[in-house]
Amino acid sequence: MDPTIRNFMDEDPGYGLPIPLGGVVRGMIIGEVMSSKAEQVVPGTMVWGFGSWSDYVVGPARQFFALPTPLAYDLPVYAHAMGTIGLTAYYGMFDIAALRAGDQVLVSGAAGAVGSLAGQFARLGGAGKVVGIAGGAEKCLRAVRDYGYDLCIDYKQLDSLSSSLKAAFPNGIDVIFENVGGAQLSLALQYLNKHARVALCGMIDGYGNHDRQPSKDALWNLVIKSARLEGFLVSNILNHKHRTDAMLAQIHQWITSGSLRYDLDVRFGFACIPRTFDCLFSGQHRGRLVVQLDDALPSCQL
Ligand SMILES: NC(=O)c1ccc[n+]([C@@H]2O[C@H](COP(=O)([O-])OP(=O)(O)OC[C@H]3O[C@@H](n4cnc5c(N)ncnc54)[C@H](OP(=O)(O)O)[C@@H]3O)[C@@H](O)[C@H]2O)c1
Repeated sequence: MDPTIRNFMDEDPGYGLPIPLGGVVRGMIIGEVMSSKAEQVVPGTMVWGFGSWSDYVVGPARQFFALPTPLAYDLPVYAHAMGTIGLTAYYGMFDIAALRAGDQVLVSGAAGAVGSLAGQFARLGGAGKVVGIAGGAEKCLRAVRDYGYDLCIDYKQLDSLSSSLKAAFPNGIDVIFENVGGAQLSLALQYLNKHARVALCGMIDGYGNHDRQPSKDALWNLVIKSARLEGFLVSNILNHKHRTDAMLAQIHQWITSGSLRYDLDVRFGFACIPRTFDCLFSGQHRGRLVVQLDDALPSCQL
């Protein structure tokens, strides 16, 4: 379940084609190759890639990436730390934000799939301070206890997010890993240090709501701080296998050494996908939200 799918449900998604009403929803999937005309793809292989919310997907071999045989992890992990989510957080934190030792780092959506990894990557990369923003006391508790954030700001409890950010960053912010956008981004930009870097991973606050963008005034901070804001899509690197292999090897090493935690929230059944998808926008999930389809299971369990 990826929040950006909501953008494809708009008339003009900005990237990718809109999904017509009644159309099949596109999304990231993991599945088993049932039949193949490509020599290098053997039936029985487990693959991941961009497909659709459907029982079967037909596509060119280049659309899919083989998982290792035998699998080193349970399948859903390849939809999280060992798949696009791990790559997104890694690419955003190390390549786009160019994390440096000692950096003061802010991550929004800190308890979510990408955010929980991005915060840990910042810590593992030697950040001086890692602060998260998340919705609710329970999520903030997890951000600090499980994902190693130094501090987490509960944006739902605060009248003044701005003063909390100011208190959290007496020495200013060097890196923002942005998952939410809107007011959270606008306010955080005020506290940028000179030559700060903002990795714009997502702007979920604006998905389905086109009015909530960072204000022009907020973006002015990029000018006066000579800061760099760069958006990115994980798809930029998916076909650079040597790079993604190296990133996944590092993530694997962190997992096996006990340095990296990932949480999976696996729901079952095709019929409840719409309700499950909505959890991404209400925050009613824990970690990476995945739907597992299995004929042997009841059709919808929430
Ligand atoms: N650039 C890329 O290639 C790429 C790839 C994957 C994901 N992303 C982006 O990364 C972000 C996180 O995705 P994810 O898959 O890891 O999802 P996630 O963080 O696990 O789930 C989404 C979370 O966003 C928060 N949220 C939802 N609506 C919000 C709002 N209006 N204001 C503030 N917070 C809100 C909720 O957390 P709280 O309960 O804490 O509010 C919710 O749990 C999204 O923006 C997504 O589009 C980008």
